[in-house]
Order: sequence, then structure tokens, then C-alpha cells
Amino acid sequence: MKMLMCRPDHFDIEYSINPWMSVERKVDRKKALDQWEKLYETYLQLGLTIELVEQEEGLPDLVFTANAGLIWGGNAVLSRFQHKERQGEEPIWKQAFERLGFNVIVPPDGMAFEGAGDGLFLGSHLMCGYGFRSDRAAARYAAAALSVEVTELHLVDPRFYHLDTCFCPLDDSTAIYAPEAFDQDSIALLEKKVPHAIPVPPAVAAGFACNATPVGKTVVTSTAAEPIREELKDAGFSLITLEMGEFMKSGGAARCLSLPLDLGPVPSTPLQKTATA
Ligand code: ARG
Repeated sequence: MKMLMCRPDHFDIEYSINPWMSVERKVDRKKALDQWEKLYETYLQLGLTIELVEQEEGLPDLVFTANAGLIWGGNAVLSRFQHKERQGEEPIWKQAFERLGFNVIVPPDGMAFEGAGDGLFLGSHLMCGYGFRSDRAAARYAAAALSVEVTELHLVDPRFYHLDTCFCPLDDSTAIYAPEAFDQDSIALLEKKVPHAIPVPPAVAAGFACNATPVGKTVVTSTAAEPIREELKDAGFSLITLEMGEFMKSGGAARCLSLPLDLGPVPSTPLQKTATA
């Protein structure tokens, strides 16, 4: 498995675009770097290959690579950010995807889409969140561009403004999710689509437990997930929990800091070979 990450060299809270962010609650840079390094080391120990993008000054949220775009089968649907504060990231992500050999698909002007933050695959079925950062039309646009089927989920709790803050497929038929994040119809859709949907208690979800990266049968997530360790064990998954406090000040955690690059069918024209980090 290959992952795109960005070392937090210029990470801070410079603006507030979600309920977790306050410019008064600055980041402890050293702590943030430590937390990030532990995630990075954990991925390496699990056998992952990491590609890195360098963080530019003035783009503090560039660390959240999940928002770069949506990857499937050698294609990258580029993000078009809802807030102007993050729109400066778009050319950087475009260039990174091109360097990595992806076929880059750019959603039309005026369509908001925040990549894997709002688009997660359950097997080969796309689940998209809309309501805060991504437009509903973007879910359909991305699904058509990638030739996949999509389930559109309406996010209604501003604390869970991206789908990856409240939903995480662990394999083709299992997922964890925070019910309070969705409207009733979307909960019904989600439960219909995911045979084994495990609801997470509110306090656990509020600690970014659903913001998780499954690597085979291992799930890398925040320390808030400890109360569901046994339940996940019964479902066949073991947990690695990490401190994510500095990133939670920005409304993100483990999954937001990670973009899996090798999702979907292997492209018929091989992706360009690139140096790894
Ligand atoms: N401060 C960032 C924002 O509000 C956090 C992004 C978290 N990313 C994610 N994939 N949920 O945009």
C-alpha cells in the first residue's frame, strides 16, 4: 500500500473553517511533528510506502493529504476547496498527482469537492459525503468520472464536516460510523449498503476514532478508539491508537493526514516510476 503524506513543517491554526479550529488555540509544533512522525513510523512498520509532498508556508492545512483528491485506478479527481483559505492548495496537489503519474481529472469551476475527505470506497463502491465541504453534484461527477457507483450521504453535524471524520470502511462489508453525523435517510442508506455497520458511541466519535486507516486487519486511529477495541477485535480487527491532539485542533487526525494512492484497479498504462521518500 502506498500513501501520500505531508510533514507538518508549517502546520498551525491560522484561520477557522470548522468548529474545531480557533486561532487562539495554536499548535505546539514540536508535539505535532512528534505525533506525525509516530503515524509515519507506524505506516512504515506496517509495510507501507510513503510519498511526501513538502509543506509550503501559508498553507497550514496542506498536511491533510486526504483532501488532495480522490484516487481510483490511476485517476485522481482533484479537490476544489469550499473555502478560499485552502484553495491555494489546488495547484500543489495537481502537480503532485502529475508527478506521481496520475491521470488528473479537474472538477468544473464552482463545484466544491474535498477529495478522499468526502469520498471513501467500500470495496469498489464509492460512498460520498455532502452538505458541508463537497457539493452533492460532486459525488455524481466523481462517480461518473471514475465509472463507479455511488451512495450519497448527507452530513448534518458541523463537527463531522467531512465523511472521513464520521465513517470508515474497514473492509468490503464492515465499517465504523458515527450515527449523529448523518440524517435519518442517510443512516438508512449507509446501513443498507454496509452489511456490518458498527455504530461508534458519541464520545468516541468526537475523539476522531472514525478517522482511521485500515491496513489489512489492522486499523490505525486515534486514542479515542480504545473503548471500541474489544468490539473491533470481535469483528476481526486489531487497533493501533495514536495521540492526535495537535491535529484535532484543526479538525483532523490519522486518516486526514493520509491519502492511499493505490486504490482501485491497476491502470492499464503503468503509473510513472517515481522516487519514494
Ligand atoms: N483544518 C482542515 C479543514 O478544516 C482539516 C481537514 C481535515 N481533513 C479531513 N480529511 N477530514 O479543512
